[in-house]
Amino acid sequence: MDKSLCTELIRERFENESKRSRAQAALHLALRRLILDGDLPSGSALPPTRHLASELAVSRSTLVRVYEQLLVEGYLQSRGGSGTLVSEALPAAVPGHSRQAFPPAQVKSLSRRGSAIARHATSSRIQGGAFVPGAPDVGLFPFSTWRRLLAKNIRFEQRHLARYSHGGYGPLKAVLADYLRASRHMNCSPRQILILNGSHQAIDLCARMLCDVADRVWMEDPGYWGANNVLRANGLQIEALAVDEEGISLPPPGASAPPRLIFVSPSSQYPSGVVMSLSRRMQLLELADAHNAWVIEDDYDNEIRYHPYIIGSLFGQARSPRVIYLGTFSKTMFPGLRLAYLVVPEQLAEAFAIGNAELYREGRMIEQAALAEFIDAGHLGTHLKRVRGIYEERRSVLRRAIESRLGDLVRTTGGLAGLHLPYFFNQPGDDLALSREMLEAGIVLRPLSMYYAEPAHRRSGMVLGFAAIDTPTIEAAAATLCGVIERRWRHQQDAGQAPPAR
Ligand SMILES: Cc1ncc(COP(=O)(O)O)c(C=O)c1O
Repeated sequence: MDKSLCTELIRERFENESKRSRAQAALHLALRRLILDGDLPSGSALPPTRHLASELAVSRSTLVRVYEQLLVEGYLQSRGGSGTLVSEALPAAVPGHSRQAFPPAQVKSLSRRGSAIARHATSSRIQGGAFVPGAPDVGLFPFSTWRRLLAKNIRFEQRHLARYSHGGYGPLKAVLADYLRASRHMNCSPRQILILNGSHQAIDLCARMLCDVADRVWMEDPGYWGANNVLRANGLQIEALAVDEEGISLPPPGASAPPRLIFVSPSSQYPSGVVMSLSRRMQLLELADAHNAWVIEDDYDNEIRYHPYIIGSLFGQARSPRVIYLGTFSKTMFPGLRLAYLVVPEQLAEAFAIGNAELYREGRMIEQAALAEFIDAGHLGTHLKRVRGIYEERRSVLRRAIESRLGDLVRTTGGLAGLHLPYFFNQPGDDLALSREMLEAGIVLRPLSMYYAEPAHRRSGMVLGFAAIDTPTIEAAAATLCGVIERRWRHQQDAGQAPPAR
């Protein structure tokens, strides 16, 4: 951003704020608001302190203290000796932020598809701290074992692992087929397994291989924004179906145009945590058969569950080959690994393998070889056993902290598995404003309303990740969060809004 425009923006906000506060506090508030509202987008260079101090008629030391405070709070980052920038790690989820990150002039130079992707951006750039959802504690991962396995497979003799691969690393697929048979009641051969660079790529492959532009997809609402964005980017029309206590609610026959694809997360619906009932599963499979539709089963976190029962996969329950199973190592290993896999029905195996090779050019064989050994030698099992215990403790601490204070104000449908707890508000509340306020306190809070595609289904609440933070941090952040929510609700009641039933 141009330096004089930036100075003008700051001057205008500062003048407003300084009617209420002293210079240092007013400057701090002005800059923070400009950043949170997206008027100063990520990466913008701030004017040098000497220049800005003289423009605003404040002392340079006052301005330096404000910059330092914002640096510590994470709003700004230093570019070594050459100035200060608005942090590049601010989440696109901050309302207003993604809008400003893609100003209309920039969107115009993109394709219609490209600008739709930019406008719908929902992925968070902040991936650590309270309460980033979906993040495992990467500090618990046995990197020394992983390093040893990588080093072993990177040896000179293993030249074949350094080339393009075709069809992924065979031993990994064999290990996975055994693992899925034992843990997910799935009967599949290694030939049916494809290794991909994360779930998004796997979903993209399904969309490209099975759908044409304008085909219909049924999705859960609320649902996984990542899948929604990938499918929409493929030109598919999404019909968002409400989720009830049995999972995705399916339209009666004839009530809705038939889909080509149905995307569901039956073991633990994302983000509500609802487990799809047996009757809903049967109904879904029958409908898929009747419509000749494919079902993608996103089984993203079934390995991290806090009960002893195996919730069978839809893939294993289907009598006809309609289901494509999607698994990922982002939660069980670490997200930066970018390894996921698809298990496809036998009749799709060859075409999907060709599609994978043609579209994405497969590789990452060294990681795949290390992963095969990591699973085969029992390291993954040991790691999962350890983290389950730790995450369970963190989940209980968070539940206690939230429910002991907020009691009747919130309700959760999740918590049986996974790395986050979803909370629905029992009274309406502006969860976007709450998330903005929490970010000012250094806490990331994903508003539940953001997970809905259909306004008529939308409910407010919050999605709280707990796995990647220690218990004292959970307790402190939850105390701050509860304090803010209590104050907001008191304020709402004082303003005379009757608590509605939802
Ligand atoms: C519902 C859901 N599915 C899948 C994934 C995994 O995505 P990936 O394998 O691309 O990391 C996530 C990650 O957050 C998720 O929340």
